[in-house]
Amino acid sequence: MKKHTMIAIDGPSGSGKSTAAAGLAKGLGYNYINSGSIYRAIALKSIRNNIPLNEEHLLTEIAHNTVFEIKKNNTHWGIVMDNEDISDEIKNANVAQASSQISVFPDIRNTVNSVIHTMINGNTVIEGRDIGTVVFPSADIKFFITAAPEVRAMRRYEELKQTGSDITYEQMLVEIEMRDIRDRSRETAPLRPADDAVIVDTSNMSLNAVIAYLYNETKSRLSQRYIDTVNGVKFYTTVSAGFCFGVKRAIDIAIKTGKQHNDVYTLGPLIHNPQEVKRLEEIGIKPVEDIGTISSGTLVYRSHGVTTEEAKGAGEKGLNIIDATCPFVTRSQRLVRVLAKKGFHVVIVGDAKHPEVKSLLSYAMPHQVTVVKSPEELPPLWNSKKLAVLAQTTQSMENFKKIISVLLDSVYELAIYNTICDATKIRQDESATLAKMVDVMFVIGGFNSSNTNKLANICKAINPNTYHVEHEDQIKQEMLIGAKRVGITAGASTPIWLIKDVLKRLKGMSKELK
Ligand code: DC
Repeated sequence: MKKHTMIAIDGPSGSGKSTAAAGLAKGLGYNYINSGSIYRAIALKSIRNNIPLNEEHLLTEIAHNTVFEIKKNNTHWGIVMDNEDISDEIKNANVAQASSQISVFPDIRNTVNSVIHTMINGNTVIEGRDIGTVVFPSADIKFFITAAPEVRAMRRYEELKQTGSDITYEQMLVEIEMRDIRDRSRETAPLRPADDAVIVDTSNMSLNAVIAYLYNETKSRLSQRYIDTVNGVKFYTTVSAGFCFGVKRAIDIAIKTGKQHNDVYTLGPLIHNPQEVKRLEEIGIKPVEDIGTISSGTLVYRSHGVTTEEAKGAGEKGLNIIDATCPFVTRSQRLVRVLAKKGFHVVIVGDAKHPEVKSLLSYAMPHQVTVVKSPEELPPLWNSKKLAVLAQTTQSMENFKKIISVLLDSVYELAIYNTICDATKIRQDESATLAKMVDVMFVIGGFNSSNTNKLANICKAINPNTYHVEHEDQIKQEMLIGAKRVGITAGASTPIWLIKDVLKRLKGMSKELK
């Protein structure tokens, strides 16, 4: 059977959850079920049939003998009871009051819950109390929408004022606070967020901002790849985990070169992954630290690029040169050269010790370039300069933006080149989302890999239970204790075989967890 995507939304009354849930469903093109409307429908029918609201048995019988349908009219989702559209009538205050009373009965709740399950016939946003905890505990995404009592009271007060009500804001606040206490402490279906719910505090957000947040969060969460469940532990990976285009290209070029030539070398490691470099070595592709150590053969330029001096040296030696520099790095090299020629002072946001940055630096005279890692490292008084700024391809966008904003404040002319490659940004965004979703996060990749280290830092800031590992032997059982959701991401230089080994090890360890 095709599994439908379920998004469960809950939260206290007055948090704006219904409007936000309906907006999210509309944006996603999903069905929308407001479970409160079913309680309201049962309440309405009970009122019409003069059933006392404390008669659980009679109320349940009413609920059993009713046909409920959720119907879409244009863009609005309504409820139909026994072929009658009651969408408007259930909004009445007496129906709301009655629905609140009857919703405490376990038999009523069970009946409503089974009605809800029969209504699901596609991807659905479903909203209501205990939806994420009891009704759909394995919903794909759970949101708990809340707001400060004062804000909820103000929203409700403004709403009621429109209808001519003379309730004061203070009265409304007391009502909301009392209701919160009742809702949280009640025995049946108390109001509480599911452990894995995303808490959304809407106190300082407009409705449009809430919907946009839910929509973006949903899209990025759904883009995570669910792998498997072992002994109750769910495994997820980011879709982008592993080789980026530039690294894959470099590996393919190196392997092809290795098949065609003897004595194949790379200057420094081809990529920043010791295990993959070792594998390449085993098939005859040897990294050397200095071209002084070789006199003939084929030299493959690593993905991070080489310096102009190194390239000159290799040329003078008459080595057969194969360039596997990532095309994105080649673009940055060209930019540095052209900008320096045009009289710009070039600021490179990155790590001066990294081979990519060393290579970039060599494309201009030392006085024409400055490398900075953070805004604090920017020298003062740039205002006399005509500046250009670009970034190491694996920089975090956030840091790049911070440095640009400081430069903008002090520079007359600033040319900005966004040289952060998409692969980096996508891996960072996806990893950040996954880190939020899981109990423990594993970042796989070389300890010498700039982009993997950045991923590990990003994930750790979000989820302190983050481990950066190079290979499966570094995984210990205690890292998994208490984890029900495990996330795996990997740097752009991490081969798929390493990711698979780590996953296998984690799954094996989960089997042994008590
Ligand atoms: O969200 P609403 O006001 O339309 O819900 C009507 C009543 O039903 C309200 O008192 C909360 C209750 N309810 C519930 O107990 N469980 C749900 N899943 C949905 C609503």
